[in-house]
Amino acid sequence: MSMHSHIIGLGAYLPERILTNADLERVVDTSDEWIRERTGIRQRHIIAKEEATSDMAAQAASRALADANIDIGDIDALIVATTTPDMIFPATATILQAKLGGKDFPAWDIQAVCSGFIYGLAQADCMIRAGMFRRVLLVGAEAMSRIIDWRDRSTCVLFGDGAGAVVIEGREQEGGVIGSILHADGSYRDLLKAEHPHEHATPDAFHTEGIDFSTDAAGIAAIEMKGNEVFRVAVTKLGEVVVEILRKYGFHSRDVDWLVPHQANIRIIRATARKLGMSMDRVAQTVQYHGNTSSASVPLALNELYRKGCLEPGQLVLLEAFAGGFAWGANLIRWSKEKKG
Ligand code: ACO
Repeated sequence: MSMHSHIIGLGAYLPERILTNADLERVVDTSDEWIRERTGIRQRHIIAKEEATSDMAAQAASRALADANIDIGDIDALIVATTTPDMIFPATATILQAKLGGKDFPAWDIQAVCSGFIYGLAQADCMIRAGMFRRVLLVGAEAMSRIIDWRDRSTCVLFGDGAGAVVIEGREQEGGVIGSILHADGSYRDLLKAEHPHEHATPDAFHTEGIDFSTDAAGIAAIEMKGNEVFRVAVTKLGEVVVEILRKYGFHSRDVDWLVPHQANIRIIRATARKLGMSMDRVAQTVQYHGNTSSASVPLALNELYRKGCLEPGQLVLLEAFAGGFAWGANLIRWSKEKKG
């Protein structure tokens, strides 16, 4: 009796506040035209002051549970992929578990930055196949705006906040997650990072760096990125991993019905689609409205395709992401959930 991991529920949450490119023009020396041309981004959602990553995760998770027609008591394990946890510990997953009213099942975070959901789906799939859990709730949730230096135009225009969730169920029925490929190469670790707050948080460091405590832009653990170098490696590695996963599981790019890429930059998304010979109308695109929401980006994009009624049982769906680390990967799914609407 072999188990297969089927996605049986999807949910998403985006904070109410929208930050447009025009808003950013008033914060840094940038333009709507530059941001749209170089990234595709038009706007992003920003978490409210009183909200936490776990609050966004709770909204997305509740919606995914409702969509699966189950409640938290039916869940056997909870994984949260996040780079922006509520606190260093306990894990955001345990905070989320309490907010959802669940208990007595394991809950943990994984940190693979923008590839967190891809890594999480691979992990959940393996644990379900091994018979360890029947139903896993997997959430990607990020408050990226909290780790941005709002004075740095090269990064502050790129990111947004949000959460996406799926319920994965082990069934004997064929289909669901076919398999995953994960990669990491820490030799690139300095090209994209947010250093630990301790590196910056001493009064001396603030003094010498001339950071103004009185503004929200203190940027305690701010993202630093060598954007064009990251861009080049991302295009190469994503092009390789999508070919690698199709080859590994015996498919051709023409078999892929939907590409659901990490939403960092429309030019990177186009390059991967070109590599697969796929037209952009078969590619999930949310970067324009969400910006880069890190580990939330793939489940948000998948949820959007599902809600629009694009996903149908039997279709082949390819997920991919590239992240700081660098860490990157892909999952291949034979979609089995009924079409929405
Ligand atoms: N507005 C106006 N000008 C800008 C801005 C801005 N917001 N940001 C940078 N510029 C300027 C630069 O200063 C530079 O000016 P110069 O030529 O006078 O020096 C010029 O624009 C070109 O800068 P580049 O960095 O070379 O621009 P590029 O075309 O590479 O685009 C971008 C930058 C959008 C960041 C792109 O490199 C990118 O998308 N990189 C990959 C991001 C990514 O995928 N990250 C991985 C996932 S994120 C994660 O894991 C957390």
